[in-house]
Amino acid sequence: MATALAEITVKPLSDALGAEILGVDLSQPVDAATMKAIEDAWHEHLFIVFRGQDISNDDQVRFCSYFGDLEEVRTGKFANEDMKHTMMITNVTDTGLQTALENGDMWFHSDQCYYEYPCKASTLYAIEIPSVGGNTLFANCYTAWETLPTELREKLDGLKGHHIYDYAGNPMKRGDNINPDSPQYFHPVARTHPATGRKALYVNRLMTDYIDGLPEDESAEILEQLFAHGEQKEFVYEHVWQVGDFVMWDNRCSMHARTDFDPAERRMMRRITVKGEAVV
Ligand code: OGA
Ligand code: MN
Repeated sequence: MATALAEITVKPLSDALGAEILGVDLSQPVDAATMKAIEDAWHEHLFIVFRGQDISNDDQVRFCSYFGDLEEVRTGKFANEDMKHTMMITNVTDTGLQTALENGDMWFHSDQCYYEYPCKASTLYAIEIPSVGGNTLFANCYTAWETLPTELREKLDGLKGHHIYDYAGNPMKRGDNINPDSPQYFHPVARTHPATGRKALYVNRLMTDYIDGLPEDESAEILEQLFAHGEQKEFVYEHVWQVGDFVMWDNRCSMHARTDFDPAERRMMRRITVKGEAVV
Protein backbone atom coordinates (compact mmCIF):
# COMPACT_ATOMS: atom_id res chain seq x y z
CA MET A 1 0.00 0.00 0.00
CA ALA A 2 1.31 3.45 -0.80
CA THR A 3 2.27 5.49 2.17
CA ALA A 4 2.50 9.24 2.65
CA LEU A 5 4.83 8.81 5.59
CA ALA A 6 8.16 10.47 5.10
CA GLU A 7 11.16 8.21 5.24
CA ILE A 8 13.68 10.21 7.14
CA THR A 9 15.84 9.16 10.03
CA VAL A 10 16.25 11.52 12.96
CA LYS A 11 19.37 10.88 15.03
CA PRO A 12 19.69 12.91 18.25
CA LEU A 13 23.12 14.51 18.71
CA SER A 14 23.34 15.29 22.42
CA ASP A 15 21.37 15.46 25.64
CA ALA A 16 21.13 19.22 25.24
CA LEU A 17 19.62 19.56 21.78
CA GLY A 18 20.23 18.81 18.11
CA ALA A 19 19.51 16.05 15.65
CA GLU A 20 20.99 14.84 12.42
CA ILE A 21 18.47 14.17 9.66
CA LEU A 22 19.39 11.36 7.30
CA GLY A 23 17.81 10.38 4.03
CA VAL A 24 17.18 13.79 2.44
CA ASP A 25 18.91 15.32 -0.59
CA LEU A 26 18.33 19.07 -0.35
CA SER A 27 19.52 19.69 -3.91
CA GLN A 28 16.11 18.30 -4.94
CA PRO A 29 12.64 19.56 -4.01
CA VAL A 30 11.37 17.82 -0.88
CA ASP A 31 7.75 16.61 -0.72
CA ALA A 32 5.31 18.10 1.80
CA ALA A 33 5.12 15.02 4.03
CA THR A 34 8.90 14.93 4.38
CA MET A 35 9.07 18.65 5.04
CA LYS A 36 6.45 18.25 7.76
CA ALA A 37 8.53 15.48 9.35
CA ILE A 38 11.60 17.72 9.17
CA GLU A 39 9.72 20.60 10.76
CA ASP A 40 8.50 18.33 13.56
CA ALA A 41 12.07 17.16 14.20
CA TRP A 42 13.25 20.77 14.21
CA HIS A 43 10.63 21.74 16.79
CA GLU A 44 11.60 18.78 18.94
CA HIS A 45 15.38 19.13 18.66
CA LEU A 46 15.84 22.94 18.09
CA PHE A 47 18.81 22.37 15.78
CA ILE A 48 18.99 20.04 12.79
CA VAL A 49 21.85 19.16 10.47
CA PHE A 50 21.87 17.46 7.08
CA ARG A 51 25.39 16.27 6.31
CA GLY A 52 27.09 15.78 2.95
CA GLN A 53 24.82 18.17 1.06
CA ASP A 54 25.76 19.75 -2.25
CA ILE A 55 23.38 22.68 -2.53
CA SER A 56 23.20 25.95 -4.43
CA ASN A 57 21.93 29.25 -3.11
CA ASP A 58 18.61 28.53 -4.87
CA ASP A 59 18.37 25.15 -3.12
CA GLN A 60 18.89 26.82 0.23
CA VAL A 61 16.25 29.45 -0.66
CA ARG A 62 13.78 26.69 -1.62
CA PHE A 63 14.27 24.78 1.62
CA CYS A 64 14.02 27.89 3.79
CA SER A 65 10.90 29.11 1.99
CA TYR A 66 8.97 26.11 3.27
CA PHE A 67 9.18 27.64 6.74
CA GLY A 68 8.03 31.14 5.80
CA ASP A 69 9.10 34.35 4.08
CA LEU A 70 12.81 34.97 3.91
CA GLU A 71 14.45 37.83 5.76
CA GLU A 72 16.30 40.41 3.69
CA VAL A 73 19.76 41.07 5.03
CA ARG A 74 19.75 44.23 7.16
CA THR A 75 22.78 43.96 9.41
CA GLY A 76 25.99 43.57 7.49
CA LYS A 77 26.05 43.06 3.80
CA PHE A 78 24.22 40.68 1.52
CA ALA A 79 26.15 38.50 -0.84
CA ASN A 80 25.27 40.35 -4.04
CA GLU A 81 22.37 42.20 -5.71
CA ASP A 82 20.68 38.96 -6.81
CA MET A 83 20.96 37.37 -3.38
CA LYS A 84 19.32 39.86 -1.01
CA HIS A 85 18.52 37.12 1.50
CA THR A 86 22.02 35.70 1.58
CA MET A 87 24.89 36.71 3.79
CA MET A 88 28.29 35.08 3.51
CA ILE A 89 29.67 34.42 6.99
CA THR A 90 33.29 34.27 5.95
CA ASN A 91 36.82 35.56 6.22
CA VAL A 92 37.41 34.67 2.57
CA THR A 93 38.00 37.81 0.55
CA ASP A 94 38.92 36.47 -2.89
CA THR A 95 35.45 35.55 -4.11
CA GLY A 96 34.15 39.08 -4.62
CA LEU A 97 31.23 38.33 -2.30
CA GLN A 98 30.45 40.69 0.56
CA THR A 99 31.25 39.27 3.95
CA ALA A 100 30.08 39.39 7.58
CA LEU A 101 31.24 38.03 10.95
CA GLU A 102 34.60 37.29 9.37
CA ASN A 103 36.89 36.14 12.18
CA GLY A 104 37.12 35.24 15.82
CA ASP A 105 34.98 33.86 18.57
CA MET A 106 31.53 35.25 19.14
CA TRP A 107 29.48 35.47 22.33
CA PHE A 108 26.17 33.72 22.79
CA HIS A 109 23.26 35.44 21.10
CA SER A 110 19.92 34.88 19.42
CA ASP A 111 19.77 36.22 15.88
CA GLN A 112 18.00 39.56 15.46
CA CYS A 113 16.59 39.75 19.01
CA TYR A 114 17.22 43.50 18.75
CA TYR A 115 14.46 43.81 16.13
CA GLU A 116 10.70 43.81 16.69
CA TYR A 117 10.39 40.68 14.57
CA PRO A 118 13.49 38.53 14.99
CA CYS A 119 13.98 35.75 12.45
CA LYS A 120 12.67 32.41 13.66
CA ALA A 121 15.08 30.21 11.75
CA SER A 122 18.67 30.68 10.69
CA THR A 123 20.42 28.39 8.25
CA LEU A 124 24.10 27.95 7.46
CA TYR A 125 25.63 25.89 4.69
CA ALA A 126 29.29 25.03 5.23
CA ILE A 127 31.39 25.61 2.10
CA GLU A 128 34.85 25.89 3.67
CA ILE A 129 35.90 25.22 7.25
CA PRO A 130 39.14 25.66 9.18
CA SER A 131 41.08 22.56 10.28
CA VAL A 132 40.35 23.30 13.93
CA GLY A 133 37.96 25.62 15.79
CA GLY A 134 35.25 27.84 14.39
CA ASN A 135 32.75 25.46 15.97
CA THR A 136 29.26 26.72 16.70
CA LEU A 137 27.75 26.18 20.16
CA PHE A 138 23.99 25.87 20.54
CA ALA A 139 22.28 26.20 23.92
CA ASN A 140 18.80 24.99 24.83
CA CYS A 141 16.85 27.96 26.20
CA TYR A 142 13.80 25.88 27.15
CA THR A 143 15.94 23.92 29.56
CA ALA A 144 17.57 27.10 30.80
CA TRP A 145 14.19 28.60 31.68
CA GLU A 146 12.75 25.41 33.16
CA THR A 147 15.72 24.85 35.48
CA LEU A 148 15.79 28.34 37.01
CA PRO A 149 14.72 28.59 40.65
CA THR A 150 10.94 29.05 40.90
CA GLU A 151 11.21 32.41 42.71
CA LEU A 152 13.46 33.80 40.00
CA ARG A 153 11.10 32.59 37.27
CA GLU A 154 8.20 34.24 39.05
CA LYS A 155 10.14 37.45 39.38
CA LEU A 156 11.20 37.51 35.72
CA ASP A 157 8.03 36.29 34.04
CA GLY A 158 6.34 39.35 32.58
CA LEU A 159 9.50 41.48 32.55
CA LYS A 160 11.21 42.51 29.34
CA GLY A 161 14.82 42.49 28.33
CA HIS A 162 16.38 45.28 26.29
CA HIS A 163 18.39 44.02 23.32
CA ILE A 164 20.78 46.11 21.27
CA TYR A 165 23.32 45.18 18.62
CA ASP A 166 26.13 47.38 17.39
CA TYR A 167 27.08 45.45 14.29
CA ALA A 168 29.52 48.08 13.06
CA GLY A 169 31.38 48.55 16.34
CA ASN A 170 31.05 45.39 18.45
CA PRO A 171 29.80 42.50 16.35
CA MET A 172 31.35 39.60 18.29
CA LYS A 173 31.46 40.76 21.92
CA ARG A 174 29.65 43.54 23.73
CA GLY A 175 31.98 46.42 24.45
CA ASP A 176 31.49 49.46 26.67
CA ASN A 177 31.13 51.73 23.70
CA ILE A 178 27.91 50.56 22.09
CA ASN A 179 26.52 53.12 19.67
CA PRO A 180 23.20 54.13 21.28
CA ASP A 181 21.60 54.46 17.84
CA SER A 182 22.11 50.76 17.12
CA PRO A 183 18.96 48.70 16.41
CA GLN A 184 17.26 47.77 19.70
CA TYR A 185 14.03 46.34 21.07
CA PHE A 186 12.33 45.09 24.26
CA HIS A 187 11.14 41.46 24.41
CA PRO A 188 9.84 39.20 27.21
CA VAL A 189 12.62 37.60 29.29
CA ALA A 190 10.69 34.35 28.90
CA ARG A 191 9.17 33.98 25.46
CA THR A 192 6.59 31.40 24.47
CA HIS A 193 7.24 29.33 21.38
CA PRO A 194 4.25 29.56 19.03
CA ALA A 195 4.46 25.94 17.89
CA THR A 196 5.43 24.06 21.05
CA GLY A 197 3.80 26.36 23.63
CA ARG A 198 6.92 26.05 25.80
CA LYS A 199 8.65 28.98 27.46
CA ALA A 200 12.29 29.72 26.74
CA LEU A 201 14.78 32.09 28.37
CA TYR A 202 15.32 34.93 25.90
CA VAL A 203 18.35 36.91 27.06
CA ASN A 204 21.93 36.58 25.86
CA ARG A 205 25.40 37.89 26.65
CA LEU A 206 26.08 39.58 23.32
CA MET A 207 22.87 41.54 22.83
CA THR A 208 20.88 41.90 26.08
CA ASP A 209 22.04 44.90 28.10
CA TYR A 210 19.39 45.30 30.79
CA ILE A 211 16.07 44.09 32.15
CA ASP A 212 13.45 46.78 32.07
CA GLY A 213 11.84 47.67 35.40
CA LEU A 214 14.68 46.52 37.66
CA PRO A 215 17.25 48.77 39.38
CA GLU A 216 20.43 48.93 37.29
CA ASP A 217 22.65 46.92 39.61
CA GLU A 218 20.05 44.23 40.19
CA SER A 219 19.43 43.96 36.46
CA ALA A 220 23.16 43.53 35.83
CA GLU A 221 23.50 40.95 38.59
CA ILE A 222 20.53 38.88 37.43
CA LEU A 223 21.58 39.06 33.79
CA GLU A 224 25.04 37.75 34.65
CA GLN A 225 23.39 34.91 36.57
CA LEU A 226 21.10 34.13 33.62
CA PHE A 227 23.93 34.19 31.10
CA ALA A 228 26.05 31.83 33.18
CA HIS A 229 23.07 29.55 33.78
CA GLY A 230 22.07 29.43 30.11
CA GLU A 231 25.61 28.81 28.86
CA GLN A 232 26.40 25.86 31.14
CA LYS A 233 27.85 22.86 29.33
CA GLU A 234 24.90 20.56 30.06
CA PHE A 235 22.61 22.77 28.00
CA VAL A 236 25.01 23.12 25.08
CA TYR A 237 25.69 21.11 21.94
CA GLU A 238 28.91 21.97 20.11
CA HIS A 239 28.72 21.58 16.37
CA VAL A 240 32.01 20.63 14.76
CA TRP A 241 31.55 21.46 11.11
CA GLN A 242 32.14 19.36 8.05
CA VAL A 243 32.05 20.77 4.54
CA GLY A 244 28.57 20.05 3.15
CA ASP A 245 26.75 20.48 6.47
CA PHE A 246 23.49 22.30 6.13
CA VAL A 247 22.06 23.34 9.50
CA MET A 248 18.96 25.13 10.71
CA TRP A 249 18.36 26.37 14.26
CA ASP A 250 15.40 27.91 16.05
CA ASN A 251 16.15 31.36 17.47
CA ARG A 252 12.98 31.30 19.57
CA CYS A 253 14.29 28.62 21.91
CA SER A 254 18.05 28.45 21.42
CA MET A 255 21.06 30.73 21.39
CA HIS A 256 24.43 30.18 19.76
CA ALA A 257 28.06 31.23 19.93
CA ARG A 258 31.24 30.57 17.94
CA THR A 259 34.64 29.37 19.05
CA ASP A 260 37.85 30.99 17.83
CA PHE A 261 39.84 29.81 14.82
CA ASP A 262 43.01 30.74 12.99
CA PRO A 263 42.24 33.77 10.80
CA ALA A 264 44.85 32.51 8.32
CA GLU A 265 42.55 29.56 7.57
CA ARG A 266 39.49 29.87 5.35
CA ARG A 267 35.95 29.57 6.71
CA MET A 268 32.90 30.17 4.52
CA MET A 269 29.24 29.67 5.41
CA ARG A 270 26.23 30.69 3.35
CA ARG A 271 23.49 32.06 5.58
CA ILE A 272 19.76 32.60 4.97
CA THR A 273 17.17 33.35 7.66
CA VAL A 274 13.38 32.98 7.84
CA LYS A 275 11.13 35.74 9.18
CA GLY A 276 9.61 35.30 12.60
CA GLU A 277 6.39 36.33 14.27
CA ALA A 278 5.79 38.78 17.13
CA VAL A 279 7.60 37.76 20.32
CA VAL A 280 5.23 36.89 23.16
C1 OGA B 1 25.19 33.49 12.53
C2 OGA B 1 26.22 33.11 13.48
C3 OGA B 1 28.07 31.66 13.87
C4 OGA B 1 29.12 30.93 13.10
O1 OGA B 1 25.38 33.25 11.32
O2 OGA B 1 24.15 34.01 12.96
O3 OGA B 1 26.13 33.46 14.63
O4 OGA B 1 29.50 29.86 13.55
N1 OGA B 1 27.22 32.35 13.01
O5 OGA B 1 29.58 31.44 12.07
MN1 MN C 1 24.13 34.37 14.99
